[in-house]
Amino acid sequence: MKIIQQTETLQKWVQQQGANTLRLLVPTMGGLHQGHLSLIDLARQKADQEQREAQVVVSLFVNPTQFGPNEDLDAYPQSLQRDQELCEQHGVDLLFAPSPDQMYAHDASIKVSESLLSSVLCGQSRPVHFDGVCTIVSKLFNLIQPQVAFFGEKDFQQVAVIRRLVRDLNYPIEIIAGPIVREPDGLAMSTRNLNLNPQQRQQAVVLRQSLLQAKQTLDHDQWSPQPIKEQVREHLASASLGRIDYVEMVDPQTLQNLEQAQSSILIAIAVYFGNTRLIDNLYWKQPTAPSHENL
Ligand code: PAF
Repeated sequence: MKIIQQTETLQKWVQQQGANTLRLLVPTMGGLHQGHLSLIDLARQKADQEQREAQVVVSLFVNPTQFGPNEDLDAYPQSLQRDQELCEQHGVDLLFAPSPDQMYAHDASIKVSESLLSSVLCGQSRPVHFDGVCTIVSKLFNLIQPQVAFFGEKDFQQVAVIRRLVRDLNYPIEIIAGPIVREPDGLAMSTRNLNLNPQQRQQAVVLRQSLLQAKQTLDHDQWSPQPIKEQVREHLASASLGRIDYVEMVDPQTLQNLEQAQSSILIAIAVYFGNTRLIDNLYWKQPTAPSHENL
């Protein structure tokens, strides 16, 4: 596995590849867990099925611009050595691990901003977050020029924003969303889980449990959004160490709040345990409704 830390070296590496080479990118902020590894495995499988040369590229960069002033940038778990080993074991061809000064000039003054899908859900409590994500993902796309990029569905809103970025800025990149990977007790895998203390970790299962309970109502009853959101809130409130950030039921395409029942929906939730903010979601559709693949 090749490791590159300088943007110039990366650009040279990209130039040296044949015009026909496929690059498959898995962008990460490190602290790799099974969720990331499942995306890397998807990329590796897709690369191996190709008849032409294909390179799996993982980027590892804790992007400061997607953290607000009071967020957990400093506490974000980092483990470069371990991440490097995991990438090697999972057949990554290139690990791009730049320092912040490689990615941002000290007087950088351009950002990429998405104004619609970013204004709801996590965008409400993290106002600068999606500008930071759009900016860094655009920079990674420009530098690496992948034809395919992989993101996890735990960050459903991020996937929607990135699909919009690709569409509106004409990036010739296919976005593949990988399913949420969970701990045995149902907690969605997240690098931030490492910051939970044992009591918080125990209680954090309420996120998944509250969504599963909502799913039962959706599957079996006539429903409308408000009572379901209340049901989820009540369940989440049973975790004494948690503090609800939001519970929303939205249209999976527009991410706008639902006033009434419809055939496919997304329940998205965010809960703080101490300073650690966890998110999870449930995509639900009536058995006959079209799939959300083409967001
Ligand atoms: O999902 C993440 O880890 C980050 O938001 C991403 C896409 C790597 C951009 O920094």
